[in-house]
Amino acid sequence: MKILAIGGAGYIGSHVTRELLDRGHKVTVFDNLSSGLRENLFHEAAFVHGDIMDYTQLVRAMKEGYDALILLAACKAAGESMINPEKYSLRNINGTVNILNAACETGIKNFVFSSSAAVYGEPEYLPIDEKHPTKPENYYGFTKREIELFLEWYGKLKGIHFASLRYFNAAGYDVKGRIKGKELNPANLIPIIMEAAAGIRKEVQVFGKDYPTPDGTCIRDYIHVSDLAIAHAAALDYISGKGKSLIVNLGSETGSSVLEVIECARKVTGKPIPVKITERRPGDPAKLTAGAAYALETLGWKAQYSSLETLIGTSWEIYKN
Ligand code: WQD
Repeated sequence: MKILAIGGAGYIGSHVTRELLDRGHKVTVFDNLSSGLRENLFHEAAFVHGDIMDYTQLVRAMKEGYDALILLAACKAAGESMINPEKYSLRNINGTVNILNAACETGIKNFVFSSSAAVYGEPEYLPIDEKHPTKPENYYGFTKREIELFLEWYGKLKGIHFASLRYFNAAGYDVKGRIKGKELNPANLIPIIMEAAAGIRKEVQVFGKDYPTPDGTCIRDYIHVSDLAIAHAAALDYISGKGKSLIVNLGSETGSSVLEVIECARKVTGKPIPVKITERRPGDPAKLTAGAAYALETLGWKAQYSSLETLIGTSWEIYKN
């Protein structure tokens, strides 16, 4: 298929683009490089240096004709979204509505949308399945849920088919080492641990050790970005082949605590990785793990690269130099 990967130069976007190219799809990357990296671009994919806030640019790009869009461009820092909701309204909501409207104007009907487990908020039960209530606790998660609702309406009114992929905690790097771009000023745990291991930062601050978990630190479901990329390709086949939409969780179904991740990183890297226990970060649930049975049932998808050793080993290959 001919695919426009919007945000395809980003951390997840570049892994998705790589997977689609490996499967023989024809991919064009549309990215403003605000957080995406030029080094993440592949020579086999065309590149449009564009911004989702520019409707005319989007229409001009889409007029090339595409079988599907991958919607990856968004701001994703939950903490920042609570301080600067305006930025998240503009980019995550207005930006994505621009994409939807430009797609309607140019007749593109298939969308794979990068959503997040943040749409669920505080878990009422675990593991979280797709029937779990969606009560986002941060503005970032709210924007992701809102776009899912837009997609549902555009599905009813404009006949689009979409897959909304609710990522749990994305981590790791391409097992073949083909993607090397490092996120600038990461907010997520594993890249922060990698920076401490590489001496880029002094220590890892552990946000609270008094949670109701075995070692007192928060538990998360870390999912390898290559597993996510495979799910995007499978979702594309599903919506274009079956002409149906779906909303699905993408997680490894295993939980790892902050200290377990740090301990694994010490073993894999051989580095001390100093730690400082600090206050809790507001809004962090004690435990979040995915139920991914629906992804297996609909997409035939199951995580295969998401062991802590692989997540950290592939990350260290990038950070150790
Ligand atoms: C993981 C755990 C922290 C950094 C967020 C978004 C979510 C998704 C993934 C995009 C938590 C702890 C972290 C540090 C720490 N984003 N931590 N010290 O918060 O689970 O999810 O990123 O899709 O939508 O909400 O991920 O990596 O920030 O934190 O102790 O320096 O590590 O408290 O328990 P999170 P995270």
